[in-house]
Amino acid sequence: MKILILHGPNLNLLGTREPEVYGSLTLDDINNKLSDLGKELGAEIKCVQSNHEGTLTDALHDARTWANGVVFNPGGYTHTSIALRDAISAIQIPVVEVHLSNVYAREEFRHVSMISAVCKGKVVGLGWRSYILGFRALVELLGDK
Ligand code: DQA
Repeated sequence: MKILILHGPNLNLLGTREPEVYGSLTLDDINNKLSDLGKELGAEIKCVQSNHEGTLTDALHDARTWANGVVFNPGGYTHTSIALRDAISAIQIPVVEVHLSNVYAREEFRHVSMISAVCKGKVVGLGWRSYILGFRALVELLGDK
């Protein structure tokens, strides 16, 4: 089983970016935890981060050719990007939306997600554990088939 872990804008700054909101782990720390769990679960991961909407769109299109599913934190694009929503609809592999922070306890503009309706499910507010739980659930769901 192969899973794309896709991180959107500003997540490359994790560790130093508002640690009181996003925690103190770096993106590499989170990717390493996912990689370790992947070994346990028998799932291979590829991790991609981009600050650019088009690159994220391309990564989703590319995933269609090799991945069984995607764990996706679109960062700020969550709240604005119809292009990313359309890409998720187009690729027809399950995408799990994850957020480190509890977006519903924050500014109102973060309460809206352009992508939730086309995702398999979503995990929010549990820090780096949102990725772990989203990844584990995705692998289990794919294993059910
Ligand atoms: C985020 C929440 C978004 O609102 C924000 O723009 C981010 C990170 C999160 O993981 O909590 O960049 O997706």
